[in-house]
Amino acid sequence: MSENTLSIRIIFGSARDPRFCDVIGKWLLDRLGLLPGIEFAVVDPRELDLPQGHTPDRASVRQLRESLDAADAFIVVTPEYNRSYPGALKVLIDSAYEEWGAKPVAFVSYGGISGGLRAAEQLRPVFAELHAVTIRDVVSFANPWDRVDEAGQFDPGAAAESALKTMMGKLGWWAHALKQARSTTPYKGA
Ligand SMILES: Cc1cc2nc3c(=O)[nH]c(=O)nc-3n(C[C@H](O)[C@H](O)[C@H](O)COP(=O)(O)O)c2cc1C
Repeated sequence: MSENTLSIRIIFGSARDPRFCDVIGKWLLDRLGLLPGIEFAVVDPRELDLPQGHTPDRASVRQLRESLDAADAFIVVTPEYNRSYPGALKVLIDSAYEEWGAKPVAFVSYGGISGGLRAAEQLRPVFAELHAVTIRDVVSFANPWDRVDEAGQFDPGAAAESALKTMMGKLGWWAHALKQARSTTPYKGA
């Protein structure tokens, strides 16, 4: 991996089975696979068996924290549950602390007419508390299940591709800037 390669963790927000998160996640992963200069991995609360709250000595928590620590940036793929984000996502976020700090977080949200934006907006103060920087530009899908064809293919259209390009441009800028800054001046506070 070159020094300029960005390591991005894709955080899945839903832990239920089945879940639409897999459709959105696949769309995102397919697109990220086409971009140069990044390597990425999924962090899935359904796979991690995380305990409630901050329990640093659990193996699953250590595994999560090591994965987050190695990342330069995060993309949170979140549905909207009751005008907010899922509890499983909050458990995952609360399981780490300084691993989030001085790193950028972008959101891909989905839901009904709100497109999951109420979940994304409520995540901003959570990440502010963790000394993370949230990206202004969001990729948001309103009723994305309407864009799955009979063959199961999800095609959200050109607007989504454009929104992703914008979001990734901003995420990349912050990720490179903060990676450089962390390497010269360790971030204190997180
Ligand atoms: C507990 C629960 C609460 C929900 N509340 C909302 C909501 O407030 N607003 C909304 O747009 N969609 C809401 N939905 C619909 C979800 O956005 C939709 O079911 C989505 O597919 C959930 O993502 P998932 O399948 O990946 O878990 C809710 C779904 C669940 C299960």
